[in-house]
Amino acid sequence: MSILSESYGQMPDGRFVNQFTLTGSGSLSATVITYGATLTHLNYGGRDVVLGYDSLEDYRTRDGYLGATIGRYANRIAQGRFFLNGDEYRVACNEKNITHLHGGPLGFDTRVWIPVIEQVEPIPTLKLYLVSEDGEMGYPGRMIVCVSYSVLPDDTLEITYHAECDKDTILNLTNHSYFNLAGYDGGDILDTELTLYADAITPVDAHLIPTGELLPVDDTPFDFRQAKPIGRDMGAQHPQLFGRLYDHNFVLGPSGEMKHAASAFSPRSGIRMDCWTDQPGVQLYTSPGLNLPGKNGCIPGKYPSFCLETQHFPDSPNHETFPSTILRAGESFDSVTRYSFSKA
Ligand code: BGC
Repeated sequence: MSILSESYGQMPDGRFVNQFTLTGSGSLSATVITYGATLTHLNYGGRDVVLGYDSLEDYRTRDGYLGATIGRYANRIAQGRFFLNGDEYRVACNEKNITHLHGGPLGFDTRVWIPVIEQVEPIPTLKLYLVSEDGEMGYPGRMIVCVSYSVLPDDTLEITYHAECDKDTILNLTNHSYFNLAGYDGGDILDTELTLYADAITPVDAHLIPTGELLPVDDTPFDFRQAKPIGRDMGAQHPQLFGRLYDHNFVLGPSGEMKHAASAFSPRSGIRMDCWTDQPGVQLYTSPGLNLPGKNGCIPGKYPSFCLETQHFPDSPNHETFPSTILRAGESFDSVTRYSFSKA
């Protein structure tokens, strides 16, 4: 098991960006760059199963948050507004001037993180650190964040998150990888068989802001409790499928408890991925297309990937019934998500 460090590119202001390749003792390896603490490659069984780009320039200038670490608040905050301890906070409405998305225009995905390799035998871990200053993007408190990546011997990518803040604040961290288990150039994901261990979703309005209710998945296109091809019900008539894609938060269970969130299997490659997390929700996002070319000039067609963004529920600060996303001063936030790979 090893971590190889190489230079990757340079920011316009001259800062260097490095890339780290984590090779496990099994068949899995992962490559992460310090820009956005972004997962750029995930190789399993001879295929790279995440979409990405070939250059820092592309990661900096193109949309989509491919593989990036998202914060301070992943997903949306309605009207970029929330209250904490009785005070009102405003964060940038970087989506159509209506909603705050993925931490704002200069979210964690745009930052150059500081890398440290921690060698706890036999598994080396890549730790990436960030200081998010008080008031950055409108959020209160100076926050220190650490995201760590390890490749475990059983072909698992483990991502852990740690954060502390000197004032009460809000937080929702995730990784925004776009998976295609047949490979980044493997065609569409409509036949990927997905199981989601969720009995409900948080239904949304036209701006993808939760209404606050929980909608049981029974007899809806959102019922993935038995494996089914992702594309099977995606075009079904349902008021929540207005975009003809899945872009919804599935309710997994209590925060802090490790849960089997999802299992995905590509019949084209025989590759299975299991997702485990201690987060209360997961966003299934089946992007209809992306502003690519991506890796090796690959121009994917429709529905080239799916995201499983483990997270707290969108807009939680404005919904008292949702699990809390408040991080109190002096306390720490710790979370883990694992993506495990196997082959049929
Ligand atoms: C959101 C989508 C958004 C995508 C890319 C996902 O996490 O749920 O609505 O389009 O990220 O920004």
